[in-house]
Amino acid sequence: MRIENIEKTRLTADVFEEKNFGSSFSDHMLVCEFKENEWQEPVIKPYGQINFTPAMHALHYGQACFEGMKAFKGENGDVFLFRPEKNFERINKSAERLAMPAIPKEIFLDGLKALIDLDRAWVPSKYGMSLYIRPVIFSTEEIISARGSNSFMFVILTSIAPDYYNKPLRVKVADHYSRAANGGVGYAKAAGNYGASFYPTGLAKEEGFDQVIWTDAATHSYFEEAGTMNIFVRIEDKLLTAPISDRILNGVTRDSLILLAEKNGMTVEQRPIEVSEVYEANQNGSLKEVFGCGTAVVLNNFSAIGYTDKVMELPEITEESWGPQLKKQMNEIQYGIADDPFGWRVLVERK
Ligand code: COI
Repeated sequence: MRIENIEKTRLTADVFEEKNFGSSFSDHMLVCEFKENEWQEPVIKPYGQINFTPAMHALHYGQACFEGMKAFKGENGDVFLFRPEKNFERINKSAERLAMPAIPKEIFLDGLKALIDLDRAWVPSKYGMSLYIRPVIFSTEEIISARGSNSFMFVILTSIAPDYYNKPLRVKVADHYSRAANGGVGYAKAAGNYGASFYPTGLAKEEGFDQVIWTDAATHSYFEEAGTMNIFVRIEDKLLTAPISDRILNGVTRDSLILLAEKNGMTVEQRPIEVSEVYEANQNGSLKEVFGCGTAVVLNNFSAIGYTDKVMELPEITEESWGPQLKKQMNEIQYGIADDPFGWRVLVERK
């Protein structure tokens, strides 16, 4: 791996006051090209523009997928990653589905650690803030024939991550638009899954909601995901989440919350969640909370769910609510404040 250092850092104290997620980029990025049937030597270089023509394949056919990860700074300045192997495995599952070449582990994991080590000063030390890491692979061939590209680029960029949402969300149950279909790409972190969500999300926003709860495309009667998050529903003392399928992203935060919840003695069921069952539970008082989770957001409780022409106002979040308790436990592991019983934290060594 080659490293080209910046001449002068762009880092200033204001960077850590950033309020917008994913808009303030660190000094360096990792770039690696795939051509002539193999991944070339990765280069870490100053963050900046890359050259392409309007015929670049990814712009036309969306052969692109990404990951979302974070680096956290502990009290003594140590920098940690969280379960990075999971993201490495998942990007290659996404790449396979999108007919893109798998990234070798040395490029993804060793490159990631070298990049974060180099830009460690960019990892915020304030609890609740972190450095968001965005690995992305996209097709780069200069061709508009509708077939898979023969060349690709893998880039890792990083940016400051304040709170993704700063309030409980009002979410609208999708009863027309869909995010994923059987046999489709819902389980992959395909760029197009996100691009296709903006229009229905915009319509929900016009009605006063923040996000959409995606339902099954066939009947719109089961919860699948919420915005860019996996979804959890607590009815009495049972936590429900939709089972992983080819329509649902196998979220690292989702998996971690299930393990944490079980460790707390909470019952977790991974099974289809019917919209009507949530509605009835809210009517009879057994619905305790509904929340979404993901790397960017960690965990965010919902305050209301729009369902056809009705709005279910959800119970107030209290000290007894499971969402905030699980978020705190998860954050304390991520920032190195609590013990790490599952071995999830990975220290970024200083070179
Ligand atoms: C993540 O949580 O990392 C996501 O994928 C959300 C992102 C699209 C902002």
